[in-house]
Amino acid sequence: MSTDVPTPAPPTGASSRRGPLRVGERVQLTDPRGRMHTITLTAGAEFHTHRGRFTHDDLIGRSDGTVVTNTAGIEYLVLRPLLADFVLSMPRGAAVVYPKDSGQIVQMADVFPGATVIEAGVGSGALTMSLLRAVGDAGRVHSFERREDFAAVARGNVETFFGSPHPAWTLQVGDLVESLPGSGLVSAEGTGADRAVLDMLAPWECLDAVADALAPGGVLICYVASATQLSRVAEAVRASGRWTEPEAWESMVRGWHLEGLAVRPEHRMVGHTGFLITTRRLADGVKPPLRKRRPAPGAYPVVEPEDVATGTELADDDPAAYGVRPVSDKKVRKAARNALAGAAANRAPGTADETLADEVVAGEPDAPGETGVTGGAVE
Ligand SMILES: C[S@@+](CC[C@H](N)C(=O)[O-])C[C@H]1O[C@@H](n2cnc3c(N)ncnc32)[C@H](O)[C@@H]1O
Repeated sequence: MSTDVPTPAPPTGASSRRGPLRVGERVQLTDPRGRMHTITLTAGAEFHTHRGRFTHDDLIGRSDGTVVTNTAGIEYLVLRPLLADFVLSMPRGAAVVYPKDSGQIVQMADVFPGATVIEAGVGSGALTMSLLRAVGDAGRVHSFERREDFAAVARGNVETFFGSPHPAWTLQVGDLVESLPGSGLVSAEGTGADRAVLDMLAPWECLDAVADALAPGGVLICYVASATQLSRVAEAVRASGRWTEPEAWESMVRGWHLEGLAVRPEHRMVGHTGFLITTRRLADGVKPPLRKRRPAPGAYPVVEPEDVATGTELADDDPAAYGVRPVSDKKVRKAARNALAGAAANRAPGTADETLADEVVAGEPDAPGETGVTGGAVE
């Protein structure tokens, strides 16, 4: 009996990332000034700029990480693009999730090999590729995109990157809320999907549909661009009662300039991409434990967020409309006393302002246990 163990087929896309450069592959060229060009290797084609040219045949069959010299003597470094390079240079319909965020999503949503992941929307497919890599060929990424044209862009990008359709990917055109119930991902046993990732304008509208499909303990992660969206997701998660307390963060990545002793942060950075918020699906019938911390005063406006946005019930200049803690009149009077007293101490004796300050300070003593407001700032 043979004891030879058959070699498993390489995961989808792996072989096109190894070995000599082949016809049909995208490669990245970097010139001496650091400018990048991406070309698809085509037999007999030429790459030319106003400063010389070379033929793709010069590269086909050569090793990754090589250098090619054009007719004007300019050298180009030749490398296969990494996934992070690919998503930044691929055709885009909608804005893509940047590599720094997709890395966080895969890690913080705990996307594991073999997992079943729900994704919506798909946009240009940037995040989809990271999810497919993380689940592997034996996993499942079921993506929903309501725009057919964006779905076509995503399909093209995914197949270009992996070199073929990915066996773990199902792309369904349709609105998540309408399509998820009939997708086969909602199971009566509650085994459902392991993870869900939402990158769309209004993820709070999809929370119930996703909760129906996600297994207990499953992770939901949402990527949103603005603080207003972040707040709406958080409050909708809490109000639903089917999720754990949400956690939110953003990540900032700052590159560093490296040159001899001139080692310092880059002057430019991508300052803002989006916020991430995660929560986990509670088992059915389980009530979320009561929050021990009381919300900060003023954290919740006395009206619905819609009313805050239109300012129908709270005046536009009312800090409570923006969740800003209101300042009591007493606190303001106390701050005024201290400020006037400080100003009076700096003036010549006998001026009117000094008298006024004396009156105010004398008129209203601090309540027991109250420490004075010393600085000029009132919170
Ligand atoms: C910012 S794009 C997603 C980008 C994508 N994550 C990427 O990395 O390329 C948001 C997408 O969500 C889609 N979308 C919004 N709401 C949706 C919904 N309820 N169901 C399905 N797709 C939705 C939009 O059509 C849009 O293409």
